[in-house]
Amino acid sequence: MDSLLQEIKEKINNIKTLKELNDLKVEYLSKKGPVNELSSKMKDLSVEEKKEYGMKLNAFKLEVNSLFDSLKEQLENEVLNEKLKNETIDITLPSKKVKRGSKHPMSRMVEEFEDLFVSMGYTVYDGPEIESDENCFQKLNLPVGHPARDAQDTFYLENEYENYLLRSQTSTAQVRAMEEHTEKGPIRIVCPGKVYRRDEDATHSHQFMQIEGLVIDENISMADLKGTLELFCKKILGEKTEVRFRPSYFPFTEPSVEVDVSCFKCGGKGCNLCKQTGWIEVLGAGMVHPNVLEMSGYDSKKYQGFAFGTGIDRFAMFKYGIPDIRTIYGNDIRFLKQFDRKDVE
Ligand code: PHE
Repeated sequence: MDSLLQEIKEKINNIKTLKELNDLKVEYLSKKGPVNELSSKMKDLSVEEKKEYGMKLNAFKLEVNSLFDSLKEQLENEVLNEKLKNETIDITLPSKKVKRGSKHPMSRMVEEFEDLFVSMGYTVYDGPEIESDENCFQKLNLPVGHPARDAQDTFYLENEYENYLLRSQTSTAQVRAMEEHTEKGPIRIVCPGKVYRRDEDATHSHQFMQIEGLVIDENISMADLKGTLELFCKKILGEKTEVRFRPSYFPFTEPSVEVDVSCFKCGGKGCNLCKQTGWIEVLGAGMVHPNVLEMSGYDSKKYQGFAFGTGIDRFAMFKYGIPDIRTIYGNDIRFLKQFDRKDVE
């Protein structure tokens, strides 16, 4: 063992490369190599001798292995250092430009609405886009067969889900918020989200966005509705905006109104945007119908509420001067990039 160790040490001292080291390892440490040969001598020894010989052999093997391992580490380090020395980076080369996306105009609009309503004490409520017929219509006072469904009952699911559809209005959030309220107490929410209808032209898309608002409490009146929506229109479209309430009809509110704002393009004089009327319709709203309150477990003698809904796309089109709603959903980067300017921040 001692002479073999000496021999290995001498040979290892002359090694310059990892390949040479590997060859040497094969020569000495392979199955048929001299180190293994020493192990095979064990069988010729007595029990006493085996013990002593075994211990010596183990120490010998450990030393040989560590000789190989430490040289291997040393050579690998040398290779790495050599590589690092040769691979210099030219920091004067121009870098690749990082392409930055920009916030979608709809996200900007939603954030603006949310900020405003949160500042008035509302919470943001989220509802699913796949909704039951019950939540989308029945519990909003639109029973099966009601004529006002025609414009909206469009995208139904199939087979066992035939009573589900892509929601046609965010008013479904009214039902959900009321049903979920275990104590049947006050509510103040806004629910922005996608809705779907059978529509397709420059100002209508089969997919668009609405934001729904619902306030329920004791002693809520039409005055609260008017005040809230007037503030809402002025904050979003500018303090000079005039707001007009017209009587209207929605099955889930009574009385119902439609809200117009003075045309922000011509200031009310009449132009192509407002079709020469000076007014633009922006909201549907009303006092929550007692049937709707009762169907979701509220005592309509004790509680009243108002609700409103508006198309977020319409506001974005007005605000940013977008002529065709379809571009909002087209994902054309050239369109979206325009909103990344400082002046629309
Ligand atoms: N959901 C109605 C629509 O889509 C708007 C609305 C909401 C009307 C809330 C009244 C109250 O046209």
